[in-house]
Amino acid sequence: MHRKINIAIDGPAASGKSAAAYLLAKKINYQFMDTGIIYRSFTNYCLKNKIDFENQDLVLSALQLFDMKWVNGHFLFNDQPSTEEIYNKNVTSKVPLIATLVEVRKLIVAKIQEIVQNQGFIVVGRDISSVVLPNAQLKIFLTSSLHIRSERRYQQYLKEGISITQEQVYNDMVIRDNIDKTRSTGQLVIVKDAIILDNSDFILATTVAKLKILYDNYFISHKK
Ligand code: C5P
Repeated sequence: MHRKINIAIDGPAASGKSAAAYLLAKKINYQFMDTGIIYRSFTNYCLKNKIDFENQDLVLSALQLFDMKWVNGHFLFNDQPSTEEIYNKNVTSKVPLIATLVEVRKLIVAKIQEIVQNQGFIVVGRDISSVVLPNAQLKIFLTSSLHIRSERRYQQYLKEGISITQEQVYNDMVIRDNIDKTRSTGQLVIVKDAIILDNSDFILATTVAKLKILYDNYFISHKK
């Protein structure tokens, strides 16, 4: 058995990072943490409480009332598990407003760091390698082409019965990519020591197998 390390996986929207990281975590018996859930759940909380997203002070006060715990490998927000609701179109369109607030990010990053104090986590997001866990032993930038990512998202919407055109999904993806890359804080960057994995041509199982190879290779090249 390998000693445990921490694995940071960053990448753009719909790159399949959460699905692949979740399966890898099961395979290697690690805890899987999708940090997008925090930003989405807090956005949902603000929407429900009619918090003005443009007003950072109000959002910060709301964050004080938004308790976040990690229990048995899952987040609890104000003692409740997250729901599918956080993936609806309304939350998805508003979450960038929350994710661009500097002071909000600072508190969320500190909270994640507090939870991930030990090894054995796979943490997925946008700023994990660069800000949250710069000391993670394995850093992976998982990506796929814009065309493939918007196709995946479109298929997902179809399955959920959401009425939207392929063109709309593509255009939304361009906007989200742009916000993720250009925001002044916690932006999506490829750090120097990240391994880039492009899964445009892979099915999910292949992506997981490739990630497992990167994990095994880490131990081959870091023998004590
Ligand atoms: O990955 P997902 O689409 O669920 O992320 C939801 C939102 O949270 C996105 O707008 C993304 O930019 C933001 N996010 C973030 N930092 C993270 C994880 C997600 O800003 N570490």
